[in-house]
Amino acid sequence: MAEPLRIALAGLGTVGTGVIRLIDTNREMIAARAGRPIEVVAITARDRGKDRGIDLSSYVWVDDMHAMAKRADVDVVLELVGGSDGPALTLAREALEAGKGFVTANKAMVAHHGLELAELAAIRNAPFAFEAAVAGGIPVVKSLREGTAANALTRIYGILNGTSNYILSEMERTGADFDEMLQAAQDQGFAEADPAFDIGGIDAAHKLAILAAIGFGTRIDFDAVRTEGITKVSASDIAQADALGYVVRLVGIASLFGEGDDRRLLQRVRPCLVPFRHPLAAVTGPTNAVVAEGDFSGRLLFQGAGAGDKPTASAVVADLIDIARGQSGAPFSVPSGALVQCVPADPGDRVGRDYLRFTVADRTGVLAELTAAMRDANVSIESLIQHGRDKDGGEVQVAMVTHDGPENCVSKALELLEGSPNLTAPPLVMPILKD
Ligand SMILES: NC(=O)c1ccc[n+]([C@@H]2O[C@H](COP(=O)([O-])OP(=O)(O)OC[C@H]3O[C@@H](n4cnc5c(N)ncnc54)[C@H](OP(=O)(O)O)[C@@H]3O)[C@@H](O)[C@H]2O)c1
Repeated sequence: MAEPLRIALAGLGTVGTGVIRLIDTNREMIAARAGRPIEVVAITARDRGKDRGIDLSSYVWVDDMHAMAKRADVDVVLELVGGSDGPALTLAREALEAGKGFVTANKAMVAHHGLELAELAAIRNAPFAFEAAVAGGIPVVKSLREGTAANALTRIYGILNGTSNYILSEMERTGADFDEMLQAAQDQGFAEADPAFDIGGIDAAHKLAILAAIGFGTRIDFDAVRTEGITKVSASDIAQADALGYVVRLVGIASLFGEGDDRRLLQRVRPCLVPFRHPLAAVTGPTNAVVAEGDFSGRLLFQGAGAGDKPTASAVVADLIDIARGQSGAPFSVPSGALVQCVPADPGDRVGRDYLRFTVADRTGVLAELTAAMRDANVSIESLIQHGRDKDGGEVQVAMVTHDGPENCVSKALELLEGSPNLTAPPLVMPILKD
């Protein structure tokens, strides 16, 4: 058999130990498929003495992570440390500068620095791969880079954060409020001690920016992703959505507007109302799902575990097998120099239906004020639900669903209502996902 592909592994946490287990468990099958063995020749993490639940005594431990990139016996540096900058980024630059292959599961780093790293990889003619950075075990990076390569994609969207999806679908199942279900997610190990990136939509935004670059051939633009998390979604929003025929999901959506040089890209992560009949409505718990719409392929749905040691290791090792086979293409589907700079679209240009929830004082004339603002802003209302007085009295919730219309009309209506003494809390707007 051919010479092994030699890996230096930085990071021995959830994913790093998962990779060691996977390579151990499926060693012969992997070698057969890769055409050569894949061998871990050096490992590192912060704490050498930590019990990681696996026997690491046969591996060479390197104290200085950055020395890995310089080792002559290493072909590929595998970064499973995390963090958008800091040691992970330094290691990425060192590895690629040294002409080593570089594989990572680090979505934050790829979203912020992926373009720079792809350029460096091209200069050094070194493979750079990050399948595990998006949607854990789902091979969606490869599917968009290769499987849909013949298509013009118009829209890529999906449920890209398992923690948020677990919280929202558990709120739906139990009727409980956000805080209670966040605690449950933490107790079950689905949410970090600091869940800010997950529930704030940032983690999903990292993944969306990566998918948009691959799917549309555009320069990655994380700063242009408009992000809103799930913290404002209440149990009553979920109940009202249900009564109207929807579930609430945190959805990342990247869509292209216009043609040719006039193409504009809208990237957004926010809670959406998803019709019961849409395949994303059935995605519950920590599962991820990605939908890609191609001009010839039609709608494609990819679904599976978005995180966890085993699924994520599966994606990491798939990248290593590709490199072992000599099959690593352009990381973002076209050479980095050919990626197009796409102007961000104005979100007001979106035409669609929205769910609006108002918390208002329970007095005469309030409904008339809301509907007058809608009329004056040219927003057409499809349905309206008013819930009775809550147990403290004095406040009611009014939920509306609009007909198809430009989003800037809804923004105009909200501007008209700004400062109204009848509104006792800021309104919540959630778009209704188009079929
Ligand atoms: N967990 C998932 O399900 C999942 C899914 C998809 C992608 N990812 C991505 O995969 C990467 C790793 O995630 P993880 O969940 O495996 O993280 P983790 O469990 O926290 O493990 C991180 C590892 O990095 C090591 N480390 C941290 N700082 C270091 C430093 N300065 N020098 C050397 N080693 C250092 C830690 O060492 P010690 O153990 O000694 O402290 C630990 O072994 C992240 O980019 C994450 O976003 C994770």
